[in-house]
Amino acid sequence: MEDRLFVFDTTLRDGEQVPGCQLNTVEKIEVAQALEGLGVDIIEAGFPISSPGDFNSVVEISKAVSNPIICALTRAVEKDIDVAADALKYAKRGRIHTGIGTSSYHIKYKLNSNPEDIIERAVRAVKYAKKYVEDVEFYAEDAGRTENEYLARVIEAVITAGATVVNIPDTTGYCLPQMYGEKIKFLKENVKNIDKAIISTHCHNDLGMATANTISGVINGARQVEVTINGVGERAGNTSLEEVAMILKSHKSLGISTAIQSERIYMLSRMVSNLMNMPVQPNKAIVGRNAFAHSSGIHQDGVLKNRENYEIIDPKEVGINESSIVLTARSGRAALKHRLHMLGFDLDKNKIDQVYEEFLKLADKKKSISDDDLFFLVGDARREERKIKLDYIQVISGKSITPVAVIQLDISGEKFEATAKGNGPVDAAIKAVKKIIKREVILEEFLIQAITKGSDDVGKVHMQVAHGDRMLHGFGVNTDIVTASVEAFIDALNKI
Ligand code: KIV
Ligand code: ZN
Repeated sequence: MEDRLFVFDTTLRDGEQVPGCQLNTVEKIEVAQALEGLGVDIIEAGFPISSPGDFNSVVEISKAVSNPIICALTRAVEKDIDVAADALKYAKRGRIHTGIGTSSYHIKYKLNSNPEDIIERAVRAVKYAKKYVEDVEFYAEDAGRTENEYLARVIEAVITAGATVVNIPDTTGYCLPQMYGEKIKFLKENVKNIDKAIISTHCHNDLGMATANTISGVINGARQVEVTINGVGERAGNTSLEEVAMILKSHKSLGISTAIQSERIYMLSRMVSNLMNMPVQPNKAIVGRNAFAHSSGIHQDGVLKNRENYEIIDPKEVGINESSIVLTARSGRAALKHRLHMLGFDLDKNKIDQVYEEFLKLADKKKSISDDDLFFLVGDARREERKIKLDYIQVISGKSITPVAVIQLDISGEKFEATAKGNGPVDAAIKAVKKIIKREVILEEFLIQAITKGSDDVGKVHMQVAHGDRMLHGFGVNTDIVTASVEAFIDALNKI
C-alpha cells in the first residue's frame, strides 16, 4: 500500500507575492478551479489581512471550489486570525495557517523577542485559531535555520495547543537536502506528540535545492508538500508542483502517491504563466518548452528507435499531446474548439468566438498555429475588458532615416491619433502613445522574446512601467514586435 502525500498549492499566496505576478479575483478563481481539477488537496488562497483584494479572493475561491481545503495565511496575531476566519466563512472545509519566526535571526532582529516568548505567542495563536476552525496549520518561519532542539519544543507546544499540520519552512532556501531531511527525521523522533499532526515541507529555491529538499523531507516522514505551479514564488521561487508530482510518479519505489492528475499539468503551467505574465524558462524540468525536445542527432535517432532511450516520462503523461490536425487560416471553429478542449480549455461560445477572431488574424500572418500560440490567444481573451485599445499603428523605420510612428488609440470609445519620431521604431511608437495619454510614466524594463521558432513567429514583450510610486507590468504578443511592444505598454497603462 502506498502512503498518501497531501499536495498544498500556494501559487495564489506565496507565488502571487512576486512583483508583477498579481492576479485579480476572477483570474484567481480560474486558477483555483483548475487546481481543483488537477487534484490538489489544499489551496492556499491568500493572506486576507494583507489587502481587501486578498480578502475577497479567499471569499470567492471558497465559494467557487468544493473539494480542496481552502487555507488562509495569518501572522500569530489575533486580528489577522479574525479576518482570516471571516474570509473563510463560505469554505466547505477551511484551514487557518498561522505562525511566527523561530530562527535566532527572526527572534532577535525581526521580532525583537526571546525564545520563550515566541513559544507562548505561537501557542496563543494556535489556540485562538482553534476557536474558529478545527484545522489549524502552524508554520515555524525560517525553520531551515532554526536549531533542531528548539524547533522540536515549539512544534510539541503547538501540537498540544491543537495544530493539525506543522509546517517546517526553509524560508531562505538555505538547507542542503540531507540537512532538511535530518530536520524532519529529528522532529519525527523527538517530538512526543508528532503522531497527532502532519508534517509539511515548504522549501524555497534560493540555492536551486527546493525540490531536492522537499523530496528529502518526504523520504524522512513529511506527508504534506507546499508547492507552486512552475515553481513561482518569492525571489528564486518555491518548490514546483510538477517536479514533485512527477518525481513521485517516476520513482514508485518511494511508495508515495498523490491525487495529482498529471495530464493536466501542462495546461495549468501555461495558464499560470499567461495570467501572471511570467515566462517558463525553456529548460524548466517537466514544463519547459525544451523538456521533451531532442536536438542532437544521436538523441533523435535513439528516441525514434525507442522513446525510453532518452525520455523517462512520456510527454502525454503531463498533457503534452502532439496533434495530427494542423491549425491554419483555413481551420474552422470546430477544429479550434477541439484543439482547445485537448489542451484543457472548455470555453463558452462567446469566448470561442473571441479567440477564433484573434486566431484568424494570427493565422493570416503565420503558416500554422502552435499550441503555445493558442495558450497565448486564450490568455489574451481572458484579460479584462481594456479601457485603452490600440486601433492602428504605422511605423516607418530603416537605415539612415529617422523612425516615425503614427498611432490611433481608442480610449473608452473615443479616438485619438498622434505622430512621433524616435531613435528606433519602438521608441517612436511609445512616444506617440505618451503624447495621447499625457501621463507621467517611465519605461523601466523592456524584454522581447520569441515564443516558438521561425521568422514568422510571434514575439512576446514584457514591460515594467513606473507611474508615481507604482510599478505596473504590461504584456503584449504579436508577430510584429513593434505592435507587441505598444500592446505591452498599453496593457500597463490600463492598470493605472
Ligand atoms: O517561506 C515561508 O516561510 C512562508 C511562510 C509564511 C509559510 O511562506
Ligand atoms: Zn514561503
